[in-house]
Amino acid sequence: MERFARVAAEALGRALEMPLTAADLETPPDPTMGDFGYPCFKLAKQFRKGPPQVAAEIASKVVGLPAEISVRAVGPYVNFIVRPDAIASALLSDILAGSGLGTYGSLPPKTRGKWVLEYSSPNVAKPFNIYHLRTTILGAVLDRIGRFRGFDVVSINHLGDWGTQYGKLAIAFREYGQDLPSEPSIDDLVSIYVKFHKAVEANPALEDEARQAFLKLEQGDAAMTALWKKCVDISLREFDRLYARLGVKFDHIWGESHYTQFLAPMIADLKKRGILVESEGAWVVPVTDRDGKELPPCILEKSDGATIYATRDVAAAKYRQEKFAFDRMSYIVGGEQRLHFQQVFGVLRKMGFEWESKCEHVPTGLYRFKDAKMSTRKGNFVTLEDVLELARDRVKEILAAREGMNLSASEMEAMVEAIGVCAVFFHDLHSDPARDLEFDVERVVDFEGETGPYLQYAHTRCVSILRKARESGELSGDVVFNAQLLAGAAEGSASDGGVEGPAPFQKAEEIALLKTLGQFPLHLERTLTFAKASQLAHYLIDVTKAFGSFYRECHVLGQGPAVTGSRLMLVEATRRILAQGLGLLGIPLPERM
Ligand code: ARG
Repeated sequence: MERFARVAAEALGRALEMPLTAADLETPPDPTMGDFGYPCFKLAKQFRKGPPQVAAEIASKVVGLPAEISVRAVGPYVNFIVRPDAIASALLSDILAGSGLGTYGSLPPKTRGKWVLEYSSPNVAKPFNIYHLRTTILGAVLDRIGRFRGFDVVSINHLGDWGTQYGKLAIAFREYGQDLPSEPSIDDLVSIYVKFHKAVEANPALEDEARQAFLKLEQGDAAMTALWKKCVDISLREFDRLYARLGVKFDHIWGESHYTQFLAPMIADLKKRGILVESEGAWVVPVTDRDGKELPPCILEKSDGATIYATRDVAAAKYRQEKFAFDRMSYIVGGEQRLHFQQVFGVLRKMGFEWESKCEHVPTGLYRFKDAKMSTRKGNFVTLEDVLELARDRVKEILAAREGMNLSASEMEAMVEAIGVCAVFFHDLHSDPARDLEFDVERVVDFEGETGPYLQYAHTRCVSILRKARESGELSGDVVFNAQLLAGAAEGSASDGGVEGPAPFQKAEEIALLKTLGQFPLHLERTLTFAKASQLAHYLIDVTKAFGSFYRECHVLGQGPAVTGSRLMLVEATRRILAQGLGLLGIPLPERM
């Protein structure tokens, strides 16, 4: 479809005597109106005429379109209509090119800008909670789609591993570390941290010692560093297991500690330039947001000389720009840190870095639980495991109620895991990331609602149609693009190599499904532009719905070689888009359900 849009935009551009690209065209909400539309409101203002009149005038001036594209004015729009058979053959040949899932919707690697994507970023010695799941899976989706669409992505996990609390942790580890099992877990680290806090109540001097410990850490003290490093390693071991399970890999795990060596020189420089000013013993930068509105000043050095979270973020941004010269840097982080990022960006602006405008905070909302067991705990203390367990239990219930599944225990287990993970991830990804998320397991795992399992189910249905076609002999091997079938000619019986059959793709549902499939690249692109996986997730629901209507209205098997063959192409194209799309969302696909 991109190809047609380009041709249409070029012809329109010639008529208007200004360069236009496919991006200037819109997709009309009602597909019977046309495939692409150009809104004439702006031009109407310019010419001081009514938009419909302007649209009609422009439409009559568009010349040089290929035969398969026609143009007409529809209200205030200049609309372009592509002949269905042209769409069918262009789209199907693109989608069905290559083996496996093909490459439809992808662009050659590293042909576009450099995109630094920071996501996940959990804290050392704290459990990986559901809050970090949101940023991790959204980040991973943008990472995959970014690479798929030709961006040069650099992924960074900005581990929380630095700050006063890690002084406390090091002291706690020194005091109680010997009581821990030989392979301590994050929970063990949490327990000694809590123990330390209890001890402080009886012995406040410990608190001071911890503060000293962090200062020592910042100065590179060897003994302190060794204690701290142990705690980091324990945490990383656990995070790594989780990342492996989620299929997430980072180019760099650069925690806050990665930037310590740059802090002192940066602070000194900012003091010298008068950007950092003293305020109640601390050193702060007065900052504004991008609209110039004043914000609370950003502290970079506390009165005891220690740096804070924001100091390291300023240094990290500068480091990344120097190292990668990025075109875009996105921080996928909870919405409650909005002010923090506004302040950090404000400091960067004050430092004179105009690339600051390329930085964005992509905020994520919180989880809210309907389930009584979960809602009594504070959202942030619910772990990913807790949520997956809830989903898996529900999937088990549903599958157990089904008849004729005949699964072995291990098959059942694999299926429950795939569907459970899918349900949880899809529910998260298909919601607006910036909003809080209501987690109601009944709705999350509903096989009929707009859920992950519903999409998985549509995919297995495509797989099973193709399997049946092989069993009936209507398909041998893989589905390949065949232009002859689309022209209504089936190979075989006649001596000239083809016979006239009923022309395929006469049904509205076939065309509607095809056009929906053709929007895949557009929705991938939108997903990246808005940094919202929900763009792709909603699109995949549309594909599934279009496939559902097609499947209800059109028999695939037993319709004669031309029609069955063409419809099998459509089924295979649907299968590819669903599998590719769900794969980019990081969602596993069971063979059957
Ligand atoms: N570790 C932080 C947290 O869990 C998130 C870090 C976000 N990234 C950043 N560059 N500040 O809240």
